Amino acid sequence: MAMEAHLHVVFLLVNVIVLGVSGARRETAVGDPGMRRDGLRVAFEAWNFCNEVGQEAPGMGSPRAADCFDLSSSSLKHKVSEADNKLGVGKPFPGLAPGAINNTDLYAVQKELYLGSLCQVEDTPNPWQFWMVMLKNGNYDTTSGLCPRNGKKAPPFGPGRFPCFGKGCMNQPMLFHQQTKLSDGGIMRGSFKGTYDLGSDIGNGLDGISFYEVVWEKKDSNESWVFSHKLKTSKKYPWLMLYLRADATKGFSGGYHYDTRGMLKIVSRNCLKSFFLLNFKANSSHLHRLKLGCTRECV
Ligand SMILES: *[C@@H]1O[C@H](CO)[C@@H](O)[C@H](O)[C@H]1NC(C)=O
Ligand SMILES: *[C@@H]1O[C@H](CO)[C@@H](O)[C@H](O)[C@H]1NC(C)=O
Ligand SMILES: *[C@@H]1O[C@H](CO)[C@@H](O)[C@H](O)[C@H]1NC(C)=O
Repeated sequence: MAMEAHLHVVFLLVNVIVLGVSGARRETAVGDPGMRRDGLRVAFEAWNFCNEVGQEAPGMGSPRAADCFDLSSSSLKHKVSEADNKLGVGKPFPGLAPGAINNTDLYAVQKELYLGSLCQVEDTPNPWQFWMVMLKNGNYDTTSGLCPRNGKKAPPFGPGRFPCFGKGCMNQPMLFHQQTKLSDGGIMRGSFKGTYDLGSDIGNGLDGISFYEVVWEKKDSNESWVFSHKLKTSKKYPWLMLYLRADATKGFSGGYHYDTRGMLKIVSRNCLKSFFLLNFKANSSHLHRLKLGCTRECV
């Protein structure tokens, strides 16, 4: 049985526009409309089935990372160090809320806010932080009691229709980060990639193992960033999800019970229509869906 699926998706030019009733007032709601800004802001988050961390993958730190930089006089000034990206439970950082240091779930939320503070771009009416690459493992061990309901602990229940190969099926992935580099030709390029199969080596080929990769590339100052997503499932990890999100800058994003950081700088309660302009090329019959999910009340 073919359990492996490949997915290759390219995102270009994401724009979100909020349009007033009369149509007269047209504003872009997303920081960096058109994805043209040279100084990119991109972050990574990985989740288990229940939008929590559970256990960190060995040596990987908390599953949050970011690649944020400004381009000045032909060099990249990075704002997030690899030490920041490797921060994991038990390690303090500025602004860490008391009580979160030894809790993997709370720690990840705090780390996201911290990375957001390093990446933040001042703008009107609100600052914004980053595009969010979201990776999720659909394995669900219902006997683990790991999934809280709305932030509160829920008891274990019998196995359902969700995949799980046994103990540890809800693990976090390995993450390898290629920090964005500027090459001689003026091309900027960076990536996040890895696998859920702990102990495997993606350098030795991908046969039988899961794989994800997000590459961002900008060819010229006048061009947009292009995000290329690749996702490969495996027998142990038959259900994986890889998103590019434009979350709210502040407050709850769809599906989360805590504060996130993101790209949507206008969050209007009485806005009327939003338009998403998205150039999108997919190269797979396994494409789950193009989800233009709404964040908060009505953006
Ligand atoms: C976190 O764990 C360490 C090591 O076990 C312990 O020394 C420290 O008191 C704990 N901190 C909190 C806030 O629980
Ligand atoms: C950007 O500029 C180059 C020349 O420097 C040109 O070839 C290319 O078509 C331009 N791209 C866009 C999207 O305008
Ligand atoms: C489509 O996906 C396949 C398999 O991952 C890859 O080899 C090929 O280069 C992709 N084609 C394009 C146009 O991206």
